[in-house]
Amino acid sequence: MANDIFDVQVQERAWKQQFFYNAFRALWYNRIDGDYAEFGCWSGSSFWLAHLESRKHGHPARLWAFDSFQGLPAAEGVKDEHPNWAKGDMSMSVDEFHQACARDGVPRSAYEVVPGFYHDTLDRMAPTDRPVNIALAFIDCDMYSSTRSVLAFLMPRLKHGMIIAFDDYFCWTPTQPSGERRAMVEFFGDHPKWNLLPFMNFGWHGQSFVVEDKTLFA
Ligand SMILES: C[S@@+](CC[C@H](N)C(=O)[O-])C[C@H]1O[C@@H](n2cnc3c(N)ncnc32)[C@H](O)[C@@H]1O
Repeated sequence: MANDIFDVQVQERAWKQQFFYNAFRALWYNRIDGDYAEFGCWSGSSFWLAHLESRKHGHPARLWAFDSFQGLPAAEGVKDEHPNWAKGDMSMSVDEFHQACARDGVPRSAYEVVPGFYHDTLDRMAPTDRPVNIALAFIDCDMYSSTRSVLAFLMPRLKHGMIIAFDDYFCWTPTQPSGERRAMVEFFGDHPKWNLLPFMNFGWHGQSFVVEDKTLFA
């Protein structure tokens, strides 16, 4: 449309940047220290925005990139299926990721990369493996089974005041609820210790939460 000034990519980035602005502002203001962990890093765009906004607010988070760097895995079952997601989609090599970070001003000294499918990385990591202290977890791996691996990794690392964001919280199909939301409900539905307090939503697809320790209300 000739007179449509709405640029989808610009708008999507603005929503995401606004989220990172608010998240790091809140973390800094409330003195919640710790790292930034991103699960699903293709394009490097959200990684860049997280670095930009963390530094803008004086939050010294170390950044962690967890990705296969081979794109999406095959669906493990019906809960993973979505008409817009296929095996190998959104593939970027580790070298290309480093190049994107360099282009966007994210210094190599500021971040760590953990390449591999989550079954071979997150699922094998002990609770004492770094990163242990996480301030902001950004879950952008779309699929149900991938999100389950991420949440199992995060469970022993949860702490009061950290923020967890789900980029694909509102991605569902005619027969399935959102894979990320489904995994989240399974882990946190009636958890005796942890409550997820809605924080900000971003765009049409994302929702974030503050982790609250229920026992502090006793
Ligand atoms: C939507 S893209 C991430 C976009 C990125 N956060 C951005 O906007 O800048 C989804 C990513 O999740 C990764 N991913 C999904 N499931 C995975 C798994 N089980 N193991 C490793 N990486 C996975 C894919 O490789 C892909 O890079």
